[in-house]
Order: sequence, then structure tokens, then C-alpha cells
Amino acid sequence: MTTLTQPSVLPAANDACWCGSGRKYKRCHKSSEGRVQAGIVSPRREVPSTIARPPYADSGEVVRWNESAIKSPEIIERMRHAGAMAREVLRLAGQAVKPGVTTDEIDKLVHELCIERDAYPSPLNYMGYPKSVCTSVNEVICHGIPDSRKLAEGDIVNIDVTCFVGGVHGDTNATFGVGQIDTESRELIRVTEECTWRGIEAVQPGRPLSDIGRAIEDHAKLHKLGVVRAFVGHGIGEQFHTDIQVLHYFDSRNSVVMRPGMTFTIEPMITLGTWQHKMWDDDWTAVTADGKRTAQFEHTVLVTETGAEVLTGGAGAVSGFSPLAK
Ligand code: MF3
Ligand code: CO
Ligand code: CO
Repeated sequence: MTTLTQPSVLPAANDACWCGSGRKYKRCHKSSEGRVQAGIVSPRREVPSTIARPPYADSGEVVRWNESAIKSPEIIERMRHAGAMAREVLRLAGQAVKPGVTTDEIDKLVHELCIERDAYPSPLNYMGYPKSVCTSVNEVICHGIPDSRKLAEGDIVNIDVTCFVGGVHGDTNATFGVGQIDTESRELIRVTEECTWRGIEAVQPGRPLSDIGRAIEDHAKLHKLGVVRAFVGHGIGEQFHTDIQVLHYFDSRNSVVMRPGMTFTIEPMITLGTWQHKMWDDDWTAVTADGKRTAQFEHTVLVTETGAEVLTGGAGAVSGFSPLAK
């Protein structure tokens, strides 16, 4: 078998594509240039039977039940533990990011780090998701599936870790640069983390959830960046996702009032261009419609009497792009 390779001199946008399809170059191979290409997904990793599994682990089916939005002190204590663990696993996974490392190798690492800590990696078989972590490169907005693609110098990659331990989930993510990255990507990552913290700072008992989206959207707009609308933050606890939705843009209909004891994620996805997305054929990988880069940071937060406690927080930055991290 031979593979058709791209010639060194490319046609003009309206000329025939170099591949011989007869279509205009702009309607054919031009659209995939410089875009992330899917690699090969490795066989499923096993979790030892001694580790407590969430209800979907074997079937892949997620059956939701009615879980109180306000958590008991005992559940909150368990969520602190799961949150701190997810943060640590994310930090260690971030340290493994370098040119030449495959996203599958990051999956293997996250899988093993969870198991070592007696945690089940929550993504594994969640609605059939095939891996233990999400790795979203460059224009991939979220839910990128780890595969044989090697990280390349200049890429950006979001790693989204969720640990299920003590019967509850802790969910956090961060975007990392691979080697040296360009200034625009650096700024995108920096402002996206700021957006996440602006959202966290808007958490206040007695106020509607829409305050969070307003704070995030205002900050993104100030920097002329887009806010993805199709994916939102979520209630979390004994279930990975509960019915609470946290929009990352302002919508007055996001009117649920924050109450002490509520737990949810804030996880804005911010883009260099359009907020609109497209799905890959794998039905998981969401990419920006214009192919421009996008970044994300996520924390699991608890509403307190006075504001927010960041259950996946802690001292020090996770990514190294963290002027506001606390
Ligand atoms: N961790 C993601 C979130 O922030 C969810 C991943 S679901 C999976 O909500 F199935 F893709 F793993
Ligand atoms: Co989440
Ligand atoms: Co997540």
C-alpha cells in the first residue's frame, strides 16, 4: 500500500486539489491542513476488582437518580478527598507532557495514578467512553480520546481528570503547552484560566448561577475571545454529572440560586475564533468549527456561606500559567 502525500507546492484555493479528486483544493484537502488527525486507540485498560466502581463501569450505561443538590457534611468531606486526588493526578499528568509523548501514554499514566490511589478513573466506560482521561489537543474543545498521536512541539493539550473514590467524583482539568508555544496560544491559556477564576469568584450563596457565566463571558470578550456554548459545567457528587447546569456565558434563564452545600464544576472552553463546534465521527471529539485553537480549565467547587471552596484547588498553579490561581 502507498500513501498519497501532499506535494511541497500547494495549489491555489480554487484550483484542483493535488490529490486528483477533481474537487477544488479548498473543498478537499485544504480543510484538514494543520488540523489534529486521529490516531489509533489502544485496547481498553482494566481496573482491579478491588477498586470500587461507579454504577456505569461495566455496562457503560448512565442511569441518573435524584441526588440532592445540597451535600451532607460527610459527602463534602469525601468530595474534598476526591478533589484533592484529581488535582494531584492532573499535576503529575501535566508533568509528563512533552514533545513525542502520545496521548495514549498520558492515558496509561492517569489510569495507573488513579489505581495506585484506590480510585476508579471516572471517564472509563462513562456512556461508553473508551479511555480513562480526556486529552484535547489544539482545536479540540473537549472529550478528545487518547490515541497514538504524538504531542508535537508547539501544541497545546487539555488534560481532564476525574477520580471516583469514596463513592464521589472530583473533576478538574488544565491546558498545558508542549515545549515552546506561540504567544497567542500562551495568552489564550492564560486568559482561559483567568476566566475560570472569574467564574469561581462569582460564586455567592443567594445569587443565581447566571452570575458565573456573566463573569466568564465579560472577561473573554474583553480579550476578544469566544466562549463555547454547547458544553457546560455540571452538578457533581455521587454522580459524575447531575442536573445542575453551569453556563459559561450569560443567560438569565440559568436562574437556579446558589445555596451553601451545592457542588458543581466551572469549566469554560475559550476559543481564538468562533464559539461554534463540530463533532468528529467518533461522536466524542468536539472541535472548533473554524479549526482555531481553544483552551479550558476546570474546577469542582462547593458553595459556602461566604463564597466558594475550590475542592480541586490547593496551593500553587497546576499549569504554570496561573497568575490568579489560589
Ligand atoms: N470530565 C468531563 C467533564 O468535565 C467529562 C468527561 S465524560 C467522558 O465533565 F465520558 F468523556 F469521559
Ligand atoms: Co466536568
Ligand atoms: Co472534567
